[in-house]
Amino acid sequence: MKASYEKLIKGNEQWVKEKLSLDPNYFSNLAKGQKPEFLWIGCSDSRVPANEITKTESGEVFVHRNIANQVIHTDINMLSVLQYAVEYLHVKHVIVCGHYGCGGVKAAMDHSYVGLVGRWLAHLKDIYQNNKHILDEIPDANERENRMVELNVIEQVHNLAKTSFIQKAWKNRELEIHGWVYSLHNGKIKDLNCKYESIDQLEPIYRFSGLD
Ligand code: CO
Repeated sequence: MKASYEKLIKGNEQWVKEKLSLDPNYFSNLAKGQKPEFLWIGCSDSRVPANEITKTESGEVFVHRNIANQVIHTDINMLSVLQYAVEYLHVKHVIVCGHYGCGGVKAAMDHSYVGLVGRWLAHLKDIYQNNKHILDEIPDANERENRMVELNVIEQVHNLAKTSFIQKAWKNRELEIHGWVYSLHNGKIKDLNCKYESIDQLEPIYRFSGLD
């Protein structure tokens, strides 16, 4: 029986051929280095591939994905990606892109014990609790879940603004943080208009002094 993973190797061979037929220097140019303008922080969900849904090419988007697109202050993985993207690649935009129908958000709104991943999702439960007054006013379960997806993105954008890397960049140059939500149903991205572009938008308690 043919192993299903062989499809990936075959697909890669086909993709290489296609790229080279369009541009014989495609790979040699990419190998020279990267200068992406965007950092994408998205969900690990297989249905939300950053490049494909934004019609961008290799080299255009630096990507970090985790369950429910979270920005957690103790996550060394996310923080390393963020620091590298902001301080070394000098990306101009950081985008948190959530998606409606997010399994992580759904699980966090449920009471089932899900093991280790539940600890990761615990942060989402806090977002729910902090926005209970808004969420409990929405009678339709689906709409409530969609709003929770949006509130999660808004919270993660806020969390980005709280980091020293972002604040340090703001002292020296322009940098925007955006919050978007992708719809699995129609493929469209919605801008939640929760953009941060300056430390003035951040509550004083989160502002660092002494950054240069
Ligand atoms: Co998800």
